[in-house]
Amino acid sequence: MTSVNAAASGTFKIGGEQPVTRLGFGAMRITGPGIWGEPEDRAEALRTLKALPEFGVNFIDTADSYGPEISERLIREALHPYGGLFIATKGGLMRPGPNNWVSNGQPEYLIAQAHKSRDILDVASIDLWQLHRIDPNVPRDEQFAAVRQLIDTGVIRFAGLSEVSVEEVKAAQAVFPVATVQNRYNLADRGSEDVLVYCEAQGIGFIPWYPLAAGSLARPGGPVEAIAPRYGATPGQIALAWVLKRSPVMLPIPGTSKHAHLEENIAAAEIKLSDEDLAALDDGT
Ligand SMILES: NC(=O)c1ccc[n+]([C@@H]2O[C@H](COP(=O)([O-])OP(=O)(O)OC[C@H]3O[C@@H](n4cnc5c(N)ncnc54)[C@H](OP(=O)(O)O)[C@@H]3O)[C@@H](O)[C@H]2O)c1
Repeated sequence: MTSVNAAASGTFKIGGEQPVTRLGFGAMRITGPGIWGEPEDRAEALRTLKALPEFGVNFIDTADSYGPEISERLIREALHPYGGLFIATKGGLMRPGPNNWVSNGQPEYLIAQAHKSRDILDVASIDLWQLHRIDPNVPRDEQFAAVRQLIDTGVIRFAGLSEVSVEEVKAAQAVFPVATVQNRYNLADRGSEDVLVYCEAQGIGFIPWYPLAAGSLARPGGPVEAIAPRYGATPGQIALAWVLKRSPVMLPIPGTSKHAHLEENIAAAEIKLSDEDLAALDDGT
């Protein structure tokens, strides 16, 4: 048994119903370079995934486009039949090649991809399915209606959005219950602060992607470098502790293909930043 456990981060109820441990895992990095193909060290990626329950992680984020399909397939190989794990996936981005992402919000495409994810993950119903991007070339209400249909037909249980504004969340809420929002958010990039505030008010889970980034705050002599040694922590752990403290609806999903990095990231759940250190990080001083 390991002493490091994500449970120290507390729980959040997805859709007001389903409790998950707040510190989750992002499964984008268990693929090849350019988020394309098999990971360079497949055995290590599987070992990392298999360790998640042992580390108390029960919230896993993936997408049909990671690999594509590779991430979902590895999750099934490592963890099926899941036993209490909550698996979130996404659809709406096509992959013509490495580092290449193309929106496709055609309703029939979204519905077909959700069915495919359900088959690959081998579940009766996808726990949480997120519209990876609102396609600017398709009326958004048609995309939201497809999500509504996926809920109504039981293909998915909860639904979420990714990279959206407050106005877009409100427009989607008129069509289906928005359980989560996944936007880029970290110590160095707080452009989605208004979305976070809205999510908090609405009880919507906010999933910050790229949570480990500390940017210029981690510079020599910067606030992260000053604070980290006092907690016996790495800069990445401070970045995770900061997002966790920032809001009770925050569900960070640090991503790694390496068991040692996973252990380090989960250990951040134990770090309780003082209010003074939180203020110093917020000020960037
Ligand atoms: N909705 C969206 O549009 C969107 C976009 C991007 C990502 N995401 C999701 O968000 C998750 C997290 O985002 P992200 O992967 O971009 O950012 P991240 O989790 O902040 O950073 C991941 C990177 O940091 C490295 N890393 C992880 N833990 C480390 C550690 N303890 N020490 C040193 N390096 C470490 C990883 O490489 P190693 O494998 O070498 O550890 C990887 O290169 C993804 O897995 C995915 O599920 C969503």
